[in-house]
Amino acid sequence: MSGAGKSTISGLLEQRLRDAGAKVEVLDGDVVRTHLSRGLGFSKEDRDENIRRIGFVCELLSRHGVIAIAAAISPYRAVREELLARIANFVEVYVECPVEVLAQRDVKGLYKKAMAGEIGNFTGISDPYEPPLAPEITIHSSRETPQESVDRIWATLERLGLVSIDRSALAHHRPRN
Ligand code: ADX
Repeated sequence: MSGAGKSTISGLLEQRLRDAGAKVEVLDGDVVRTHLSRGLGFSKEDRDENIRRIGFVCELLSRHGVIAIAAAISPYRAVREELLARIANFVEVYVECPVEVLAQRDVKGLYKKAMAGEIGNFTGISDPYEPPLAPEITIHSSRETPQESVDRIWATLERLGLVSIDRSALAHHRPRN
């Protein structure tokens, strides 16, 4: 949901993958909505369309060896499963956080407005969120630090055989500072 930590965790993971020599692109919901999905709103149809567009770009990128990280609210299970079936090596990361904690954090002040009825169709308040049934990883952002979350994602990627340490590539790679 909004404010759960998707962008923070994605940014850290992006940097770690780059330091390991990978090509990475983050598709962040808030950024995508100003470009690729400009004009789309928050109805079910528009959200599904937004996620399909993100999935389409992720598929193109990953097919050409760029690791694509999608960091977006994706509230409907059906469209997630549609993409899961289509995209090779799709790893579903569920960033869970109780709505009470999100409302307390309220980084953008949106929960206050949503609870006052000033924003309609707000995920988790006045709009549905369907949690994944079998994500590869569940992150509890109210109980772990972003760094711990990234470590757990990394461990899962290793277990799945999706990242392996290429020592020779690492020797030639200069981490960015
Ligand atoms: S989407 O599934 O709602 O399309 P996306 O990540 O693209 O997810 O956009 C969510 C972001 O838009 C939130 O982080 C929040 O900043 C903002 N936002 C504005 N209105 C809403 C709303 N009604 N529901 C959820 N997020 C909203």
